[in-house]
Amino acid sequence: MLSAYLAWKREQVVAALASRGLEAPVEEARPVPLASRRRAAFALGRAADCLAFGYGAARSHDIVDISACPVLSSSIAGRLPKLKSALAPLLGGKREARVALTEAEQGLDVMIEGIRPSPALFAKLAATGARIGAARITIDGESVILAGEPTVTLAGAQVRLPPGAFLQASRESETVLVGLVKEGVGCAKRLADLFAGIGTFTFALAGSAEVDAFEQDEAAIAALAGAARTTPKLKPVRTFSRDLFRAPLSPRELARYDAVVLDPPRSGAKAQAEALAASKVPKVVMVSCNPGTCARDLRILVDGGYRITRVVPVDQFLFSPHIELVAELER
Ligand SMILES: C[S@@+](CC[C@H](N)C(=O)[O-])C[C@H]1O[C@@H](n2cnc3c(N)ncnc32)[C@H](O)[C@@H]1O
Repeated sequence: MLSAYLAWKREQVVAALASRGLEAPVEEARPVPLASRRRAAFALGRAADCLAFGYGAARSHDIVDISACPVLSSSIAGRLPKLKSALAPLLGGKREARVALTEAEQGLDVMIEGIRPSPALFAKLAATGARIGAARITIDGESVILAGEPTVTLAGAQVRLPPGAFLQASRESETVLVGLVKEGVGCAKRLADLFAGIGTFTFALAGSAEVDAFEQDEAAIAALAGAARTTPKLKPVRTFSRDLFRAPLSPRELARYDAVVLDPPRSGAKAQAEALAASKVPKVVMVSCNPGTCARDLRILVDGGYRITRVVPVDQFLFSPHIELVAELER
């Protein structure tokens, strides 16, 4: 990977921290290989003189038709032309539909939104499922086909993948992030995994520590809980469905943990950072896909007495301006 490109990615993290008056050791950006992205969102719609299936053009409503993409895993990229021909008839009179693809172990999880095809087209799509490599197709949440419940394996735990549940962008970046989080919590024995999703960090950490996983999405936390029940050799995993924006863990609730991992959505975790800043938790590991909100929340933690000991950018959104990062803090 070009060093100038990775330096540009790293600089975004340095600049975000500096904008909040934070000086921290920011390591080189960790690269992620081409052809690794296992989830992506596409648009299906009308372009000037054809039907397009691809990405939204920058700062416009145009759709850029694609038949290949070097960032995508081969099981997604190799199926783009077939997906386009199978999905095109569904559009009918509509201007645009959104299609999210996730690579699961049984095949693609295809989530379509914004169209309501006729029963005949619905049936036709169901019949083409195998040809496009789909394990599941849903339209606006309704199942069209379910060849077998899609699953992903997270640190040895086989987890059901609810439609639309969060998954790190590539298996390779997941490995890097999990490694950094494990290094960050060190030998802590009682952990909280906040914004846990389906358990990317929970299962990796539960090999050697008790983990309490908190997540708002009920389908995601149910999938995590189900996998925790059937995975051998885990330390105790407890699961909680909770909105951490409205009801962050209080300093009193946080008192039982040796370390807290938090991986919020792009808007960050301001309320939870404020509660952590007032807590006595010795270690915090923050994972974020938005350096701006992450820097805001890190500032809150630093003002509460934490020191940032390590920051590692992870280039999991290849060739886009976005960058993931992991920050370690202690008090
Ligand atoms: C960036 S994802 C991280 C998921 C998980 N840590 C992983 O690596 O797979 C953010 C997660 O926060 C959850 N989330 C969003 N808003 C939330 C809220 N207000 N309270 C709790 N969880 C929330 C989302 O459902 C999503 O699973």
